[in-house]
Amino acid sequence: MKLARIAPSLLSSDLGRLREQVEAALAGGAEWLHVDVMDGRFVPNLTFGAPLIRALRRFTDAPLDVHLMVVEPEQYIAEYADLGVSVFTFHPEATVHVQRHLAAIRERGMRAGLSLNPASPLALVEEVVPELDLLLLMSVNPGFGGQSYLPATTGKIRRARALLDRAGSPAALEVDGGITVETIGEAWAAGADTFVAGTAVFGQQDIGAAVAALQRRCMERA
Ligand code: DX5
Ligand code: ZN
Repeated sequence: MKLARIAPSLLSSDLGRLREQVEAALAGGAEWLHVDVMDGRFVPNLTFGAPLIRALRRFTDAPLDVHLMVVEPEQYIAEYADLGVSVFTFHPEATVHVQRHLAAIRERGMRAGLSLNPASPLALVEEVVPELDLLLLMSVNPGFGGQSYLPATTGKIRRARALLDRAGSPAALEVDGGITVETIGEAWAAGADTFVAGTAVFGQQDIGAAVAALQRRCMERA
């Protein structure tokens, strides 16, 4: 049976203990590491970028799932490819030539992802489904960790699942924001396969056990 893919969000980690916390998450079964890049313009917060990615690459080979919440994300495609980023996900709300950027991401050997804010319709990605390796649905308004899962996301996950299936797309369907042991089962049952979790992983005493608990919840609903 297919396992849920957990991508812990480093936004909620203790950067002073980054290596130790990342290793604990991976030991607990985390498959990807989610890196939230924010520019203080697309979202009202600033985080990190290339220096953190470079630091991670010094001690782990785990796939880096980079979520760009920045205007004109295309300016980072070449640099992030060179740094060894695995998944490059951006918001179509933040730029103009979405199809061109998806193609450029793939050409550079990364997986191409699009992310939608809660208020953004699935229609924004419909025309480019064949060019997507990942669709990320925001279940909170992006910018901060620790917010609550917006219940309307569950119906949107179902509709996104149907959209991908209709197109025969193998793209991952990822959910980000407010994912906890209470909410993950519902998102999984609706058809998501990849889950970002910040607080629910790095806010816990035992980071590895927290990852395993999220995965277990999905298996209980399988
Ligand atoms: C929010 C970020 C998320 C965030 C999730 O803008 O995109 O990845 O870290 O944090 P939690 O899991 O605490 O909601
Ligand atoms: Zn994110």
